[in-house]
Amino acid sequence: MGVSPASAPTGPRHVAIIMDGNGRWASARGLPRVEGHRRGVEALRRTVRAAIELDIAYLTIFSFSSENWSRPAQEVSDLFGLLRRFIRHDLAELHRDGVCVRIIGARDGLDPEICALLTEAEELTRANTRMTLVVAFNYGSRDEIARAARALAREVAAGERAIDTIDAEAIGSRLDTAGLPDPDLIIRTSGEKRLSNFLMWQAAYSELVFVPELWPDFDKAALERAIAEYHGRERRFGGLVAKTGS
Ligand code: IPE
Ligand code: IPE
Ligand code: MG
Repeated sequence: MGVSPASAPTGPRHVAIIMDGNGRWASARGLPRVEGHRRGVEALRRTVRAAIELDIAYLTIFSFSSENWSRPAQEVSDLFGLLRRFIRHDLAELHRDGVCVRIIGARDGLDPEICALLTEAEELTRANTRMTLVVAFNYGSRDEIARAARALAREVAAGERAIDTIDAEAIGSRLDTAGLPDPDLIIRTSGEKRLSNFLMWQAAYSELVFVPELWPDFDKAALERAIAEYHGRERRFGGLVAKTGS
């Protein structure tokens, strides 16, 4: 961990990013959408490096939503190909940099080769502590919450759990993000102002920052600007005085 001056504001500990605008970036240049996605992977590499330099403990990125299946088959296949390549090419470097990789989202129905790659990334980097990179892949909050509800219902049906023990903590412990702190800051690029089914449970008290940059143009300076905006916010968590989230 880097040493920051005593007066520097702390956190955010967990930053989550909705990486949006690849298609518009490409269209604006008369390029195919896949070119925007390729440049998006470069922005992701830059952002991971910047997050490490800024001592962010958890970085979550939204890379493919459960609704992105509705895109043309070619684009879905391009996005899967890029994820596969990102893990194959970057895993060793992430591991060397002390990054722990964790994947959230549904695994059922995914190509077994991709599943094996995701598991390999998690297992190789499990003990790393410098930063946790959470990749939301085939992820949607509604699906995640429904899966958690099914898991709890199964325990009740098996007589292993009393209905009254199902509280927010029990649900949180069954989500894909179990054990991770809630995001302090959620950034969405490209000017869109919505969550699009991303971390809806976990975002209960997150600060939302919407930035105009299209994802392929995102860089360390843009991340620092979003963090500066976060530091200007007053987080109260339902109380009357400002509290720090982490
Ligand atoms: C984000 O860029 C990447 C994914 C959703 C996978 P988009 O592909 O959504 O780009 P726009 O929103 O069409 O510009
Ligand atoms: C959200 O972006 C999903 C990811 C960034 C992976 P979308 O581009 O799919 O969201 P909508 O359709 O504009 O809401
Ligand atoms: Mg989009």
